[in-house]
Amino acid sequence: METVRGTTSLVGLLGWPVSHSLSPNMHNAAFKQLGLDWAYVPFPVRPTDLPKALKGLMALNVKGVNVTVPHKQAVMRYMDEVSKAAQTIGAVNTIYLKEGKFVGYNTDSTGFLNSLIEAECHPKGLRVAVLGAGGAARAVVFALTWAEVDSVVVLNRTAERAAFLIDDLIDTFPGSTLHFAPLTESSVVALKDSFDLVINTTSVGMYPHVDDCLWPKNIPMPSTAAYCDLVYNPLETVFLARAKMAGAKTIDGLGMLIHQGAAALELWTGKTAPADVMRQACLAGLLNRPVRQ
Ligand SMILES: NC(=O)c1ccc[n+]([C@@H]2O[C@H](COP(=O)([O-])OP(=O)(O)OC[C@H]3O[C@@H](n4cnc5c(N)ncnc54)[C@H](OP(=O)(O)O)[C@@H]3O)[C@@H](O)[C@H]2O)c1
Repeated sequence: METVRGTTSLVGLLGWPVSHSLSPNMHNAAFKQLGLDWAYVPFPVRPTDLPKALKGLMALNVKGVNVTVPHKQAVMRYMDEVSKAAQTIGAVNTIYLKEGKFVGYNTDSTGFLNSLIEAECHPKGLRVAVLGAGGAARAVVFALTWAEVDSVVVLNRTAERAAFLIDDLIDTFPGSTLHFAPLTESSVVALKDSFDLVINTTSVGMYPHVDDCLWPKNIPMPSTAAYCDLVYNPLETVFLARAKMAGAKTIDGLGMLIHQGAAALELWTGKTAPADVMRQACLAGLLNRPVRQ
């Protein structure tokens, strides 16, 4: 709705900072399209203020919030219920304030999966390399394993972090083929022809460091694999540009952003999210951003 009134249902985003988020554009456009008297507001919350902010949401009858950096892990201890997926991933990115309770979900994993499917990349049976082992990688590896990929290798600068990720997931998916390796030039050379899908889950290549790319400069990218980047500013990172030059299929990070938002909106409102309208709102928001010249 364009006007906020006494009847408006409020949802929003908890993060620090939140000023650059595209989520308000995306959700408010969706509410307008659906004719819902709802509004989405960014809430900048310092880490030390998180418990107070959560109590405030409940007191103010806010219906739900998305959660972003740096609160995705920290909010978990304040939840009354946490979905099995969010528990396994170890992070909550969506809270539904339901009948006086905080219920935590992770829609990054379904959002990621839906973005692959939308790009006609069906993960079942694929051999996947995941670059990075942070919070986003955890949601991605959970989604891929749930979708029955053939195997996942997590390559990370800090190899121990990749080992922890796999240790945490293997209990939920016993028998899955999950490995880790340090992210070095020699490991990429050794493994490069063994993948059908390579996913950058790190922030490398994100504005303002738009010339950075984790794939070693002197190693060609096999065109038989598809390449996905979770970074969406810029939409075409150097990682994706090089993959495209090699003749490979590429998938940018906007699809995941839209589909994690769509899943959150559906939890809160019970309505089918208008993904196309949300995409247009994000693209319009990105046009106003500084990106690579
Ligand atoms: N498209 C979407 O909807 C969506 C959703 C979630 C996140 N994201 C994006 O995903 C990215 C990662 O987010 P996150 O929450 O996972 O962050 P995070 O938990 O802080 O993890 C960061 C990851 O990047 C690696 N890394 C950072 N700088 C590096 C460098 N210079 N060289 C090699 N590795 C480096 C880290 O390796 P170490 O462990 O060695 O430090 C770690 O694996 C961000 O760009 C975020 O915007 C996109």
